Amino acid sequence: MPLVNERELLLPALEEQRAVGAFNANSMEMVQAFVYAAEDTTKELGKPVDLIIQLSPGAAKYAGWALGAGMVRIAATESKIRIALNLDHATKLEEIQKALDNKFTAVLFDGSSLPLEENIKMTKKVVEMCHPQGVPVEAELGKIPKIEDYFTGAEIGHLRSLSAPEAVKIIREKAGESVEKLMAKPEDVERFVTETGIDFLAAAFGSIHGIWGDIWPVRVDRLVAIQKRTRLPLVSHGSSGILMTRKDAEEKGVKLAKGEGTLLDAIQTGGVTKVNVATALSVAFIEGFVDAYKGNPSEKDFRKLGIPARDRVKQKTAQYMRLFAGVR
Ligand code: G3H
Ligand code: ZN
Repeated sequence: MPLVNERELLLPALEEQRAVGAFNANSMEMVQAFVYAAEDTTKELGKPVDLIIQLSPGAAKYAGWALGAGMVRIAATESKIRIALNLDHATKLEEIQKALDNKFTAVLFDGSSLPLEENIKMTKKVVEMCHPQGVPVEAELGKIPKIEDYFTGAEIGHLRSLSAPEAVKIIREKAGESVEKLMAKPEDVERFVTETGIDFLAAAFGSIHGIWGDIWPVRVDRLVAIQKRTRLPLVSHGSSGILMTRKDAEEKGVKLAKGEGTLLDAIQTGGVTKVNVATALSVAFIEGFVDAYKGNPSEKDFRKLGIPARDRVKQKTAQYMRLFAGVR
């Protein structure tokens, strides 16, 4: 079916306390993996699983705006899954205009590096550009940092080799205080939402972009305080790193401090309705490709390596989809 407006996916999900996965695509294989996962999960659960595919401005430049958006549009047309196309983390008005020109059905304007007043001013401009064309706008309040803001590449490599509790301990020591300071302030929420006129709110609640392996607890207490100030769907960023469930936390030996919780808590009690995942899926593709090549170093047919890589992404995506639907 044709691409759908992201509002049509998120407003019913908010009512039903479930979430829709928003997955970042960087190639044709990623787009296919997301659609196949949604199709399989729809059959498995016996109810429709919706899908948001998103391109960052970097991904749109990598593929070319028209080819990137066109690929998602054609994949949607060929499937029965309801799919929205979102521009992820735009920081410039020109990027928003490109998304409108290429018929994206949602955008995220990320003004989180700006002072609050400037963030409000710019976000309002984005809403004025998008709403006349019916395109909903997500905006960021507080700041969701990147793991690279705190650790070098070599340090990240080392962290990946540690157990979950060891890695969490080190990340807490180095980044914990800073991440807490960057969280959205509940007292700013009403003003930000009212003055900008946004549709969805990406409020920082303690996650970090680019962690791996579902190990990091988030501040569900802060999320609940934010949710009390707005009826809008809330968006989780940096979700690759977040612990999936309390059971996972227990199994991995990660202790939750007071006020902390998991992705499932954020969805079921914190109003999170859109969950952005990028790193975990990119890593799944790379690992699938590399493992297939290691298994057959004489292989020269790209497709023989692309298929297992795509399958790896499909499996991880389906795992998220079950969680977001409330099924484990
Ligand atoms: O906007 C994209 C997401 O926030 C992705 O974060 O790479 O940590 O999953 P992640
Ligand atoms: Zn993000």
